[in-house]
Formats: sequence, C-alpha cells, structure tokens
Amino acid sequence: MNLENIPNHVAIILDGNGRWATNRGLNRSEGHKAGLDRLKNLSDYIIKRGVKILSVFAFSTENFKRDKKEVDYLMHLFAGGLKDSIKFFSNKNIKVIISGRRINLPKNVIKTIDVLQEKTENNTAGILNICLNYGGKAEIVDTARKIAYLVQNKELTVDEIDEELFSKNLYNDLPPVDLMIRTGGELRISNFMIYECAYAEFYFTNTYFPDFDELEFEKALDSFNERNRKFGGLK
Ligand code: IPE
Ligand code: IPE
Ligand code: MG
Repeated sequence: MNLENIPNHVAIILDGNGRWATNRGLNRSEGHKAGLDRLKNLSDYIIKRGVKILSVFAFSTENFKRDKKEVDYLMHLFAGGLKDSIKFFSNKNIKVIISGRRINLPKNVIKTIDVLQEKTENNTAGILNICLNYGGKAEIVDTARKIAYLVQNKELTVDEIDEELFSKNLYNDLPPVDLMIRTGGELRISNFMIYECAYAEFYFTNTYFPDFDELEFEKALDSFNERNRKFGGLK
C-alpha cells in the first residue's frame, strides 16, 4: 500500500538564480533565464506527482529595489519568456493564474499574463499560481480594502467578516499552503504568502533554484512525509 502523503498546495520561493549564474561566471540575467526554464519542467513534474496547486514566488513587491537593469531584464523575461510558455502550459493542461499587484508592471507584461491566464483557464491537470509583483503584506492590505469597500457598499456587514471570508477575498481563492519550499539557502519567508502559510510545513535547501530538479523535489516530499501536522491539536 502506498502511504505517501502528497501536499495539496505547494509553494516555492525560487531563490538563488543570481548566485547560480555568478558561480558560473555568467551574469545574473542568465540565472533568471535558467530559473524560468527550470520552472516550466518542474511545475509539470510537481503537478503530475499529484499536487493540485503550485504557487511560485517570481518577483516580490520589494524586488523593484534592485538595479534598473536587472528589473528591466526580469520584466522582459515575464513579457517574452512567459508568452513563449503559453503553448507549453496548454499542452500540459496546466491552468496558470497570476497573483500580485498589476500596478507598476509594464504594459507588455500585463498583456502576456492576461493572455496566459485566458488561454489556460479551462485546463484541469492542476494550477500554477505565479506570484508577480507580489507581497504577502500587500495582499493582506489589498484584501482588507476590498472587504472594507464591500461593507461600505452594504454588500457585507462587519460581523460577517471571519477567517474564511478573508481567505476567499485574497488575490485568488486558494486553499492553505501545505508545504513551503525555499531554495537558495536563506532561512526566511521574505514576505511570501504569510496568510496562506499559517500552518505550512517548511523545507529549506541550499540548492539554487536552477538546480532544483525532480530529485530535489522528491527530497522535500520525503521530508514533508516525516512531519507530524497537528494544527494546534494533540496528535
Ligand atoms: C530569485 O533569485 C529570483 C528573484 C528574486 C527574481 P535571486 O535573484 O534572488 O538570486 P540570488 O538570491 O541573488 O542568488
Ligand atoms: C524572494 O527572494 C523573492 C523571490 C524569490 C521572488 P529575494 O532574493 O528577493 O529575498 P531576500 O531579499 O533574500 O529576502
Ligand atoms: Mg535572492
């Protein structure tokens, strides 16, 4: 009997692209390009493995603090590289959704993500949630604003606000994260899905994201299977 427990929702902070490139004498852009290539194949594998939702941190609200050159390259990659991946995700039957603030994103990126979401919206194998210009605190603030407007418009009363309603009004109505993975060796969450990770299990690895392959994912899964999830109860 197979007793393996597959997490329903996996989140990955795909970190270490820059160091991966620097270690090879390449420029950081090459690392971001390698990261995007890795993301495509890995997301297909993870969804085939039975994970229903994969959320990935591709660009944080704070990443705008980086050099203009690096930000410009990343935006170029999101506009062009993601556009080129539409066919890939369609063939793999993966539904792609985007979480984050649209404001500050260049027009060509907005266009690509709109087309990507539209072309894959009926796919059923699993969901890839790409977090772009995303911040966990920003998401909570944006959700609070959305709910406040509903109250102001008398579509909701204050007493109706509870954890479930709050969660349903986040950027996308997704179930909580079961397994949070961070590649690249840092032991922090860097403002990623802080509401959704309330009871997530954490897995940290020194492996840089472009090297995080199927075997590396299996290690994270093995570790997840060793955990005793208690959710505050006694088990
Ligand atoms: C993660 O890799 C990708 C983004 C933040 C866009 P980094 O660019 O943070 O790579 P390191 O951490 O500098 O190696
Ligand atoms: C987190 O990585 C953001 C993404 C992976 C998109 P960073 O490299 O930006 O995080 P810090 O700066 O090390 O906390
Ligand atoms: Mg980093």
